[in-house]
Amino acid sequence: MKKFPKYMYIVNYPTPEEELCNLEMKVVFGKELKEKMLFSDIEFNPSNSPFIKTRLEIIYEKDSVEEILEEIIKDKTVYNNFKLEYVRLNNENNISYDERLAIIKNISNNIQGCHNFKNPEFSFGITKVENKWLFGIDNKNDYKWHSHDNKPCSYSNSLGVKVAKAVVNIANGGSKDKTIIDPCCGVGTTLVEALDAGYLIEGYEINKQIAKNANTNLEFYGFNPIVVNDDMHNIKKSYDSSIVDIPYGLFSHITVDEQRKIIETARRISRRIVLISFENHDLILEQSGFKIQHRCIVPKGKFKRFIVVAE
Ligand SMILES: C[S@@+](CC[C@H](N)C(=O)[O-])C[C@H]1O[C@@H](n2cnc3c(N)ncnc32)[C@H](O)[C@@H]1O
Repeated sequence: MKKFPKYMYIVNYPTPEEELCNLEMKVVFGKELKEKMLFSDIEFNPSNSPFIKTRLEIIYEKDSVEEILEEIIKDKTVYNNFKLEYVRLNNENNISYDERLAIIKNISNNIQGCHNFKNPEFSFGITKVENKWLFGIDNKNDYKWHSHDNKPCSYSNSLGVKVAKAVVNIANGGSKDKTIIDPCCGVGTTLVEALDAGYLIEGYEINKQIAKNANTNLEFYGFNPIVVNDDMHNIKKSYDSSIVDIPYGLFSHITVDEQRKIIETARRISRRIVLISFENHDLILEQSGFKIQHRCIVPKGKFKRFIVVAE
């Protein structure tokens, strides 16, 4: 009998980002991580997450390596340029290097086709979880998004790329159909990550030079310069979610009343908000008609960044 869903996801994070990772997984998969691992029938591209290291699409689930081998021998498909790796788990249950090597050799020798470790067309993975052997297609995070760390136009108030990637997933739960607005988009950090993942997002920025810089950044990565240089309070459309990285008193002159107006406008234009702030704005969120669903804290130097999801 089948025990596992279709996909196994392996994640990793530095300790300060644990809460952010847990929140991303909870919103995208509706599940909690267990030993930095998660099983789901939801297909999610690992490269769209800052935390997912790899996704194993399970083809065979068996009690022994020999039974996996039997299935592979039965499969007469030719996989030219394939690679097989042992998928290491984040717990103590990994088998020794010698055992892993022996299994890889044995199975690889029975897959039809030729190996190619450098440029594989097919990447397979095998691992052992809870006394079951799993074999499948190994889809790793390509980490190409690290190139977004070097935008032509930077901004001291920008979000980091990892936080931006996580908040776009938190905003739409990984859905390609839901619309997102970043109404105070700065130099477009969330826009680059959302567009890169194929999400529907628009951005507004009140400051002319910053809006221009955001569009320069978008074009640099091959996206259309979609940032509108206008006050978010003039937005007429409605969106499924807003990502509001609120301008804060720490770096820019903004009053609590202006912050309240930003949250109120976010309520008018979006059903759901992901609010990013350096202060607790729970009361304003609730007074604006939002109900808080999830929250997490991400340390930023001496400060704490609050990330709150409300609907
Ligand atoms: C904290 S920064 C956003 C940074 C952005 N997340 C990034 O990574 O680049 C807030 C931005 O909101 C803009 N802003 C402030 N009030 C605004 C308004 N009423 N409408 C649109 N943008 C506004 C500011 O100019 C500032 O660039």
